[in-house]
Amino acid sequence: MTDVAFQRCISPACGTTYGVEEVRVACEVCGSLLDVVYDWNRLKPPDSFEFFERKWSQRRDPLAFSGVWRFYELLPFAPRERVVTIGEGQTLLQSSAGVAQYVGTRPGNLYLQYEGLNPSGSFKDNGMSAAFTHAHAIGAKRAACASTGNTSASLALYCSMTKLMKAVIFIGSGKISYGKLSQALDFGALTMQIAGDFDDAMARVKEVATQEGIYLVNSVNPFRLEGQKTIMFRVLESLRWEVPDWIVVPGGNLGNSSAFGKAFAELKEIGLIDRVPRLAVINATGANTLFELYERRGLRWNGGRREQATIDKFYDEMDATKRRASTIASAIEINRPVNLDKCLRALEVCNGVVREVSDQEILDAKAQVGAGGLGCEPASAASVAGVKLLVSQGVIGPDERVVCVLTGHQLKDPTATVAYHTTDQEQFNKVLGSRGVRRAAFANRAVAVPNELSEIIKAIRLYS
Ligand code: F0G
Repeated sequence: MTDVAFQRCISPACGTTYGVEEVRVACEVCGSLLDVVYDWNRLKPPDSFEFFERKWSQRRDPLAFSGVWRFYELLPFAPRERVVTIGEGQTLLQSSAGVAQYVGTRPGNLYLQYEGLNPSGSFKDNGMSAAFTHAHAIGAKRAACASTGNTSASLALYCSMTKLMKAVIFIGSGKISYGKLSQALDFGALTMQIAGDFDDAMARVKEVATQEGIYLVNSVNPFRLEGQKTIMFRVLESLRWEVPDWIVVPGGNLGNSSAFGKAFAELKEIGLIDRVPRLAVINATGANTLFELYERRGLRWNGGRREQATIDKFYDEMDATKRRASTIASAIEINRPVNLDKCLRALEVCNGVVREVSDQEILDAKAQVGAGGLGCEPASAASVAGVKLLVSQGVIGPDERVVCVLTGHQLKDPTATVAYHTTDQEQFNKVLGSRGVRRAAFANRAVAVPNELSEIIKAIRLYS
């Protein structure tokens, strides 16, 4: 481990520090989350973004090739020779005129950051590469996570490719999509299907990891978030280092939003940017803890003095009414986001807003992304649905530059996609109707034809 990095409790009133070689997911003194922090004065980070551009010519070096470790100087917690990379972060930023029209911004102002292009098909590989690096550096032999599917797919992939660790994953029974489950199984992870949902699995995996000494790679792990900062570095790189007006991201366990806030705060601190973008975090209506707390009950980070009673009251109400998270966007079907505090801090840094969108809005937005871009899974489309809502509310102006983070690949959840486009009412009702989705305004229906040449040609002429 390097001596220019350490871990620190995020509560300013506590601020206890720990060595970077320690394995912790919370402060021993006050129980708050931990940050990885750097001694920038000693590190002397690059004073211009061109430094990172020069690495493009060194792409035979795996660290320069990786879209995470190309930015090593901005997350230098481990020595270069200990870094574990499988070539993650080869993602791209696309401007989509079709989606811009759909959400109501000017064409050319709406960008989609495709994190589904990562090796396991989601943004998680950014963070996994960093957590795995830490785990390997401290000598871990087993790594665990609770997951709505993508973290588990990512962990399973890093384990199967590197053979450095064994993966133990906890998933809610029947709660993850087939694309993601099939990855975990194929990559050979020990897969525990808990009779419960993500929130149950998360609580259990924390207990098991502590008791069995298994390294935890969920985003309570501060090293995970260091890797996820690089999503924003790549966005800036694609925009020729110009800061956009808005970053819009779906909110589940709130790791991404937390990491993005940290990334921008640090870039500003070391002088690589002079302003931060605004942040919009989008919840699904059926899993809207952040929206409820931030927008309805006025919970704020408040420089680290946020109201515990507001959170306790909401969680007590949730327990009393036995409320469970429920959304077609299974990746963000989470009621107790572990990074709530860090996300509140990010919202403060980035003058953020939070919105909730229905499953109907998510699936319509997803169909629009598919029709005008590379496609995405339902949770990712919450960001696009969120922009549409924020434009209609006048919060995002049509001239502002907006980046939506598309967190997961289209093929992660084919069940939702096929049900949206189907002509089979029963299938539609079973998968989507049960979630309050009433129509599929942008469906592209398959045409059923008899196995006869003349009928097929007739149909093609009719529909094309
Ligand atoms: N989008 C996708 C595709 C996800 O898989 C997740 C989280 C999120 C958004 C939410 O991101 O937690 O940083 O707010 N998936 C986790 C998992 C929980 O287990 O795969 P977040």
